[in-house]
Amino acid sequence: MPDPQAKRRVFSGIQPTGNLHLGNYLGAIRRWVDGQGEKENFICVVDLHAVTIYQDPDDLRDQTRRLMAFLLASGIDPDRTTLFVQSHVRAHAEGAWLLNCVTPVGWLERMVQYKMKSALQESVLTGLMTYPVLQAADILLYSAHEVPVGEDQKQHIELARDIAQRFNQHYGDDTLVVPEPMIAKAGARIMALDDPTAKMSKSAASKRGHAVGMADPDDEIRYALRRAVTDSGRDIVFSDDPEKAGVNNLLTIYQVVTRKTPEETVADFADARGYGDLKNAVADVVVEALAPIRERYEQLMGDPAELDRLMAIGADHARSVAEPKVAEMKEKMGFIVPADLRPGG
Ligand code: TYM
Repeated sequence: MPDPQAKRRVFSGIQPTGNLHLGNYLGAIRRWVDGQGEKENFICVVDLHAVTIYQDPDDLRDQTRRLMAFLLASGIDPDRTTLFVQSHVRAHAEGAWLLNCVTPVGWLERMVQYKMKSALQESVLTGLMTYPVLQAADILLYSAHEVPVGEDQKQHIELARDIAQRFNQHYGDDTLVVPEPMIAKAGARIMALDDPTAKMSKSAASKRGHAVGMADPDDEIRYALRRAVTDSGRDIVFSDDPEKAGVNNLLTIYQVVTRKTPEETVADFADARGYGDLKNAVADVVVEALAPIRERYEQLMGDPAELDRLMAIGADHARSVAEPKVAEMKEKMGFIVPADLRPGG
């Protein structure tokens, strides 16, 4: 029986690849920070997901540390969130294998991100296809009820729901919690500054003017926002008109960063003389929001022993939740689970 007193669990993850950008921050990281407290939070740096596309080994180690430091600098509090690195908890790989064996290949072939990413590869690695199964394992091993993500991850979370339901049908109704994607009303899909019809993405974020990078100096942030593609009009309002996608994106960034309502946001620009004013105002609020994060990030990167210590604490706690769950799944599937690996054993 589920414990009615138990806190709801939240799980989310982020890959240590490419350039962390404002979309990651507004669509995911800041929401994880805001949600700390009333729920039990697990945030994972998903290095096993990163290698579904070749990564230089030294680069991967470096990026994993940098991402840990960024998450801490952004306000992830290790006293209120279990922050850990995925490969430090072996149960993720083991759980993914078990779930591979309940997931039809057809479900994976339908994944939009798989189609997009595989189209860019000369040779597609098996891991790229089974990537969403590992993601399902991440979530299901922690019995997470809620998964706060940006819009682009919705399909993966829906797949995790299908996988959980299929496992439960085959092996026992209440084994796996069926999670819910939690997608913000505003900021779930921050668009590219150089092309507001495409989402801001880590892989393209090294292209100057595409994104606001979380590590970018103030003048680079201002450069990217001032060059943001808009339209030939002057109206600073939210609109469904595809022509206005650039202005919508800038207004959304302003709204989410300042935590204002859409009405307050538009009212702030009632006296603006044109898009130049909008871009300057967005640059001001973004620079102000990111500068202290960058400063804390630099401090944390200067103390690798502290980062190691925090990684170890997070992984210990994550293991204490994930290992018994994987043992329970194995028992349900008919594996002989040695006494010391049994849940509660
Ligand atoms: P990743 O690393 O691509 O992105 C991390 C988070 O940032 C969000 N995001 C955005 N939000 C708004 N606007 C954008 N332009 C934007 N770009 C990215 C993503 O939606 C995500 O929430 N597969 C996942 C990582 C993962 C995971 C998990 C997530 C692995 N296991 C379990 C949740 C639960 C990924 O590659 O995210």
